[in-house]
Amino acid sequence: MTKRQNLEHPSDNSKMAISSIRIKMVDLKTQYGRLKSEIDQAISAVISDSDFINGQAVQEFSADLANWLGSRFVIPCGNGTDALQLAYMALGLKPGDEVIVPAFNYVAAAEAAALLGIVPVFADVDSQSFNLDPLSAAAAIGPKTKAIVAVHLFGQSSKLEEIHSLCEKNGLFLIEDNAQAIGAEMTNGKFAGKKLGTIGDIGTTSFFPTKNLGCMGDGGALFCQDEELAIRIRMMANHGQRQRYQYDAIGMNSRLDTIQAAILRVKLPHLNSFNKVRQETADAYSLILKNRPGLIVPEIATGSSHVFHQYTIRFEEQGRRDTVRENLRLAGIQSMVYYPLPLHLHTAYRTPRHPEGSLPTAEKLSSQVLSLPIHSEMTEALVQEICSAI
Ligand SMILES: Cc1ncc(COP(=O)(O)O)c(C=O)c1O
Repeated sequence: MTKRQNLEHPSDNSKMAISSIRIKMVDLKTQYGRLKSEIDQAISAVISDSDFINGQAVQEFSADLANWLGSRFVIPCGNGTDALQLAYMALGLKPGDEVIVPAFNYVAAAEAAALLGIVPVFADVDSQSFNLDPLSAAAAIGPKTKAIVAVHLFGQSSKLEEIHSLCEKNGLFLIEDNAQAIGAEMTNGKFAGKKLGTIGDIGTTSFFPTKNLGCMGDGGALFCQDEELAIRIRMMANHGQRQRYQYDAIGMNSRLDTIQAAILRVKLPHLNSFNKVRQETADAYSLILKNRPGLIVPEIATGSSHVFHQYTIRFEEQGRRDTVRENLRLAGIQSMVYYPLPLHLHTAYRTPRHPEGSLPTAEKLSSQVLSLPIHSEMTEALVQEICSAI
């Protein structure tokens, strides 16, 4: 390959397509408008203090979030992908170790593992919840397995009790990737009353702007309940130093900016109401769409709440999803396919261990799913309009 070919990327038409959209997946502008005076004041305070890195708001927000989640420790970091990488590093995972991750998923858990030489082993998901299938996870456990990453996709819990006991039985770490489900909680069973992300050895999250709790740039955090582990995570996020200029391990530089922490401090008290609007929006969608033939609305699992980071419907008939998506586009309504291909079928993650057909539910879901606009500013009128276009 020449140097030039090495740098070439496929062309990106997404900007052009966006311009004709009237109804977007998220509406960050309206949310900002509502909170403008508080947010502007919080940003100004950081600028006045010029307290940009590890400033007071970072500690304050971490303490607020720990309190809100009921987590002993919250360690902020640069983004949700770093949070996963830091989790693997703090847990002492080594090259050649294996972690089990769902195949129907965002790339971060697999990518962060692969970058460290840890092997992501893909497991299938269940089609009702889109989340890790505990039986498939159990079948993927081998002598090199060190951890399972339960990704709480689209806003609701994986089958945590089953996955937790699978980890206990096999001496594995449980990492909860809670980037999409902040605020969701277990409502009955062994973990009743606990917020997602606080149950495994480590919980991770992202504050990407479109997340249920989003900042105005990049941000992330880890949650844990063990003091020694919290110290290790902090050390790993700070160049492997316990003390300044004393490097005990090879670490990373991953920080939450003070400005982002200040913005998140303003937004955190609103998270319950943001999530409530998402839940009401989901109810409104499901009420209208549930009896449409061939269209499957998302199920809310018993035993945990759902904070609807995404409202994702499915179409059983081959090709129908794409027709509906085109109708929505023509009506100026954005929709998204999360995720168009399961991870094990991507060039970067293909291995003989996971040939096509080996994880059938993940493969089927990728051809069926369609996520509709949902956010903290949704109205019933918008839901009606979107459902009419469907
Ligand atoms: C489930 C999940 N995990 C991790 C991430 C990574 O977060 P970030 O974009 O902040 O690195 C995302 C982001 O979309 C996500 O959805």
